Amino acid sequence: MRAVVTGATGGIGEAIARRLATAGHSVVLIGRSRERIAAAQRRIAAAVPDADLHGEVADLSLLADVRDLATRLDPLPDIAISNAAVVAPIDAVTGEGLQLTFATNHLAPYLLLRTLAERIGAGPARFVIVGAAPRALARVPVDLDDLQCRNARTLGPLPSFRPFAAYGRTKNMNAMFGYALARRLAGTGITVNGGHPGIVKQTGLGRHARGGLKVFTNLLNPFVPGVDHGADNPAWLATASEVEGVTGRYFVRRKEVTTAPHTTDVTRQDRLWDESARLVGLPATH
Ligand SMILES: NC(=O)c1ccc[n+]([C@@H]2O[C@H](COP(=O)([O-])OP(=O)(O)OC[C@H]3O[C@@H](n4cnc5c(N)ncnc54)[C@H](OP(=O)(O)O)[C@@H]3O)[C@@H](O)[C@H]2O)c1
Repeated sequence: MRAVVTGATGGIGEAIARRLATAGHSVVLIGRSRERIAAAQRRIAAAVPDADLHGEVADLSLLADVRDLATRLDPLPDIAISNAAVVAPIDAVTGEGLQLTFATNHLAPYLLLRTLAERIGAGPARFVIVGAAPRALARVPVDLDDLQCRNARTLGPLPSFRPFAAYGRTKNMNAMFGYALARRLAGTGITVNGGHPGIVKQTGLGRHARGGLKVFTNLLNPFVPGVDHGADNPAWLATASEVEGVTGRYFVRRKEVTTAPHTTDVTRQDRLWDESARLVGLPATH
């Protein structure tokens, strides 16, 4: 089978790609730097000498790049894992004028997976959207009137925490989009599930942590596992026979869990869907 993994140049994404390659799948590593893709390919090939690896360059913060990637992927994948994410400063804006965290973490998977679903048609295929910890995310509901966090003060009193609150909102968008896409693909052979990788170290995600958050993260480090642990749940969702045909669910450590009511509310999901469609230039199909 052919798998595509976004954000496969390091952290959990590279570990997912390595697991899939170990299981004999052909893997397309998607990253924004040709050099970092090549370096990840070399590391995986050193661990899995017969790995069938390919690379695709796309800056997922740019809709133009995502659109191009989604339409050029050939052959079409049997497995697509949306894993790439950033925790960017609140005022960081892409060349297309979108808030960077929102564009990379939400609009990119929205545009990529919707376009791939359209091209794949009846399937079968499995889509996995790497989310985050549902309990923590319950506290940061998506503000549907301010998807790009223009009103930064609503993200909390401490400026150093705000990028992480904005990131948390986009991870809730991942869950909402996964449920909404699964509903729309019901009856096809394409399944869509979300999953928390677990809190793991050796990743670049917390590189912008400042102040109390940085101290807290450093204190936790000796007690948290490494990236291979983080790859387990997403890789399992992408390949395990136990979840064949299962769709529209969310998993933590290979167990189905419920996420916050503000993510499962269909009206809220559809509002997010429609506004995202408008922003990426796709029709708001229901
Ligand atoms: N680490 C944790 O404890 C944890 C906890 C909960 C959820 N997660 C989730 O797990 C996933 C992976 O996180 P991680 O911890 O492995 O983070 P990471 O080490 O920072 O890896 C992120 C990956 O995304 C890529 N990426 C970022 N922006 C990109 C862009 N504009 N275009 C293309 N690729 C881009 C990075 O590529 P570059 O090499 O170019 O930077 C990197 O390969 C994320 O969805 C995150 O929300 C992680």
